[in-house]
Parts: sequence; C-alpha cells; structure tokens
Amino acid sequence: MNTSFSSKDPSTLSNYTKFDVTDGALDMDIDFDAKVVHGRITYQLVAREDTKSIVLDTSHLKIRRAAVGEVEVDYKLHDRKEPLGSALEIFYDFKQTARTTVTIDYTTTDKCTALQFLDKEVTDGKKAPYLFSQCQAIHARSMVPCFDTPSVKSTYVLSATSPYKVLMSGRFIEKKGDKYFFEQPVPIPSYLLTVASGDIVGAPIGPRSTVYSEPVGIKAAQWEFEADMEHFLEIAEKLVFEYEWGTYDALVLPASFPYGGMENPNITFLTPTLICKDRSNVSVVAHELAHSWSGNLVTSKNWEHFWLNEGWTVYLERRIIEAITYADAKRKGKANPEQFAAQMRSFLAIIGWNDLENSVKAFGPELSQYTRLVLELGSADPDDSFSSVPYEKGSSLLVHIEEVLGGKKVFDPFIPHYFKKYRYKSVDTKDFLDTLYEFFADKKDKLDKIDWDTWLYGEGMPPKPKFDTTLADECFKLANEWKAATKSGDYDKFSPKDVESFEANQSVVLLDTLSSFENQNDFHWADHAKALEAMDKAYPIYSDTQNAEIKSRFYMLQVTGKSKKYCKLLGEWLGEVGRMKFVRPGYAILNEVDHDLAVEYFTKWENTYHPICRALVKKDLGLS
Ligand code: BES
Ligand code: ZN
Repeated sequence: MNTSFSSKDPSTLSNYTKFDVTDGALDMDIDFDAKVVHGRITYQLVAREDTKSIVLDTSHLKIRRAAVGEVEVDYKLHDRKEPLGSALEIFYDFKQTARTTVTIDYTTTDKCTALQFLDKEVTDGKKAPYLFSQCQAIHARSMVPCFDTPSVKSTYVLSATSPYKVLMSGRFIEKKGDKYFFEQPVPIPSYLLTVASGDIVGAPIGPRSTVYSEPVGIKAAQWEFEADMEHFLEIAEKLVFEYEWGTYDALVLPASFPYGGMENPNITFLTPTLICKDRSNVSVVAHELAHSWSGNLVTSKNWEHFWLNEGWTVYLERRIIEAITYADAKRKGKANPEQFAAQMRSFLAIIGWNDLENSVKAFGPELSQYTRLVLELGSADPDDSFSSVPYEKGSSLLVHIEEVLGGKKVFDPFIPHYFKKYRYKSVDTKDFLDTLYEFFADKKDKLDKIDWDTWLYGEGMPPKPKFDTTLADECFKLANEWKAATKSGDYDKFSPKDVESFEANQSVVLLDTLSSFENQNDFHWADHAKALEAMDKAYPIYSDTQNAEIKSRFYMLQVTGKSKKYCKLLGEWLGEVGRMKFVRPGYAILNEVDHDLAVEYFTKWENTYHPICRALVKKDLGLS
C-alpha cells in the first residue's frame, strides 16, 4: 500500500522542525472594552540544529516586543499569506542543543478569528460581557504566536486577568486578585489552548467533573449531564486506560459557539443546543471525553491525518454508548442486553453513514478530494475540508478492521496498546498502520485483505458495511409509507402516534430517510407539497422540538419541498443557533431554494456569528 505522504505540516509557516519546545507560559490580559487580549508567551526550547532565527505562526497579531532570555531582539513580521497568516521571524543565533527562552509580547486585533467577544446584551444573563476561544484547526495563531501545528506539543502554565471568571485548558491552581492561574502538565498542541471568561458559574456533574455555564442555565446544564458523566469516564477508562488529565469539566457556551463540542483539555466546550431537557444529546460529551485519548494524548501530526483524531474518537464514542446501553438494558432486565447494545451501536453507525453520504454529496465533484481519508491540503485552509468524512469514513474503517480481525474481543487489546505507545506524541497514518501490523503480526493475512488504498486514498463512499438495521427498520418503514402516500394521496392515516414512542435518534433516521428520497428516481419533495403539509400537521413535535438535530432536519426537509412557511422559520432559527453543523447546511439549502432570501437572512444575522462561522457561510453563499 502507498504510505509515501510527506509528514511536514503544510498548514504552518513556522520552522517547527528545527526546535523542541519543552514548556510554554501563556499570560493573557483580557480587555473587554477594547475587545482585545494583551498577551505574553514564553517558550522554553532547544534548537535541533544551529539556526539563525525562529519562525512562528501569527495571524492578525500586533507584536510589541520579542526577547531571547532577558535581551530584546530584532524580529520581522512577514507579509500575510492567505489563509496561513503572517510568519513572525525572530532573529537570534540559536545553537544546537542550547536551551533558550523566547518571549513575545503581543496584542490581538479585531480580525482575530480564534476569539469572540460578546457584548453583555447578547449573553443570557445580560450582566457581563463574554469571551471565548476556538483554536482548532489553525486559529491559535490569531490568539498567540506559536508553532501552530499539532506536531509540536508542550506543557504549559496558563494565566489570565479578567474582572470575570476565567477558564483555561489546564488544571486550576489559584486566583490572585483578578488573575487566574492554571497548569497543563500533559504536553498539548497549540490548537488545544483555550480561554473563556464571563459571568460563569459551576455545578458538580460527577466526582471529577463540574459543568459551567451562565447562572441562568446552570441547573438545566447540570441535569442534562449528571446522570452520565462519571459512567462515561469509567467506561472509557476500561476501554483505553486511566484518564490522566485530573479533572474533566465542561463549559456550556453562548449560542454562537460554532461547534457541537470542542475537546479543550480539562474543559470541554459545548454548544447550548445540547441542553434539550431529555439528555438525548449526551453522546456529544462521550465524544469530547473520548478525545482525552484520541486527539489530546495521541494527536494527528497535521490536518491531513485528522481522521486519526476524529475517526478514533467516533469509534470510541460509539463503544461508550454501546456499553452504557448494555448496562441500562441489563439493569432494566431486558432480554439479551448484549444484542440490544450491539444493535444500538449499529444504529448510530447508520446515522453516521447518512451524514457521510450527505458530506460526499455536498462536496460534489469539484471538491471530491476532501472525501479522502488522508488529505492533501497544500496551502488550503483546513476549515474548508471539514466534514463528516474523517469522522465517519474513519470510524467505519476502524469498525471494518475490528470485524476483519475477528471482532471486539480480538481488536480490543490493540486500543490501549496504540494509545500508550503514542501518548504525548503526534502520529500519522503510517504510524497507525505500522503499529497495527506489528501488533497483529500473526493476523497479517487478514489485514492484507483490507483494500487500504481505497479506504485511505479513495474518493467518495467506502465499501458499505453490513448494518444491523433492527432499530432503524421501524423508521425506514414509516418513511416508505410517506413516500407511498405521495402516490395514493392518503395522508389521513398518519398521526402523532406514529412517532410518539420514538427515541430522538429514531426521528433523526426517519427524517434522514425522507430527505434521502430527494432526487432518487426523479422524486422531488417540491412536487409533493401536500405531503409535507400533512407531515407538519401530523407531527407537531417536529416543529416544536428543543432537539436541534431533529428541528434542523425537519426544517430542511420542508425547505427542500420549497415550503414558504419553513423558509421563513428556518431563516429565523438561523438567528438563534451558531453551531456550524446546523448553520451551514441551513443556509446552503435556503440558498438552493432562494438565493436572495438566504443572503437577506445572512446579512441580518452575520454579526451574531462566530468569526469562523461567518467566514465559512460567506464562502458557501459566494459572498467572499
Ligand atoms: N474537535 C472537534 C471540533 C472541531 C473539529 C473543531 C475541527 C474545529 C476543527 C470536536 O470534537 C467535534 O468533533 N465536534 C462535533 C461533535 C460530534 C461529532 C459529536 C461537532 O462539533 O459537531
Ligand atoms: Zn471530535
């Protein structure tokens, strides 16, 4: 098989290969009035060879001073190269193996893509302004000069001064005056550096876990996660090994947080759309927790091998949910809990498979290179390649490997082996494959049956796995009844009862299946407006739901059918959510039906979005 990719990170302008960074000290002074951060970063490092300068990544930063040891030195901020930013070159005769300290004083600007400052009026409590960061994939450089590559990891001491509570990606040490101190003794890459500050309070959700949010939301947030948190941790520890970060906390952010979750060490960030009062979105926490091993301990070397982070994490997330399902079913005395849990795992994989199909469709032929597992990014922005592909093709590959080898019992010992071997390090696909072949040397013939080239480098959908459809069959059946009814016109037989007993995820599968009919054998929902109106009447829970996974799917299905009412409802809802998983496809579908309307809504809401989200929707709508 072909594993001849270069391991140099194409998404950094830095000369990171010339140095070993052993420790970092990041200090931030948060200025809510000017909406900037004044920062000081100090790196302890050792040059691997003699070199005349150190080159760091920056993006829209003002550099105030650079020093080596105590001595101020010359530096040059090079011209900006989109989308990677401006290289900061600091001149000094670095001698091989000599230990040096490099310090940079800087200030962020209003073009900073990692930070979002919110005025107090747009927070829930309206009492204090709010600040939060999102550094993955390459936004850390707009918050702090750094080797902005996941290949470089170091320990940190972190501190920030703010009139409001501060959370950062480390263990809390102390607060002195307005200054909060943290330490991160586990080496981490730049994309895991984090800060949040605002009117934030905490509530316990487990013996080693606290959930944080604005005061108005804290009770609801606590209820949403407290039943599962410690169970997730215990199951994950059994699957991999001991959780070594100390505490595992979560912060529920304001609506503009652009992701479902972000695995910032010690303090996972979560979208408020997870708080839906029925615990139906807790799998996102299982996912972010799983990153404590896949991604945060063992990190993909660069964004071309991002699937190693997300594919492994989805794999572990579903194993955690499978184990929880088993324990629950057993406790409730359900017959054959093991089989039921396996069916649940397969059911989640079916949802993932639908997501993958949608991503492959959305990239289309022009961007089909992004449907490969191992990417060739060149100087492209890794954000542009973001999709379900690394998640779902990646986890499908791991499940396939598990099955080819003979199932979970055979595969499971490999999990702790791989994560122990590479913890604190960064890896690429070759490291993964070498370790797999080494560990299963006696099963080489089985591994050789895997069509690696297609899995790793092929575009489009991978070979379709055999799913256990037991839990999905009911949803498929109901979807097909709707399709049949578009011919017979008999819509009276549908009623709220059809979906009353559905788990949230069954509704997801029903709606995904209904959406998948679009364009199949010339079927178009727009030709069946009556059916969609009937569905709207029969299933009012789908328009009223608090579950964003269901709401977005139902709205988008209606908009596919050109429902005027839902174009408006979707447009308005896009002003309430900031999670890109919903925002980007929402605008994309509005754009297909009515470009002007999509632009009108985007113009109305763009200032509420996180800079990363704003930039991507702009691109999606052809406005940039
Ligand atoms: N690390 C990702 C989020 C991310 C990826 C941010 C790439 C920036 C660049 C996080 O763990 C994630 O996967 N979030 C998902 C949650 C889901 C798959 C359960 C999300 O945001 O939807
Ligand atoms: Zn993830």
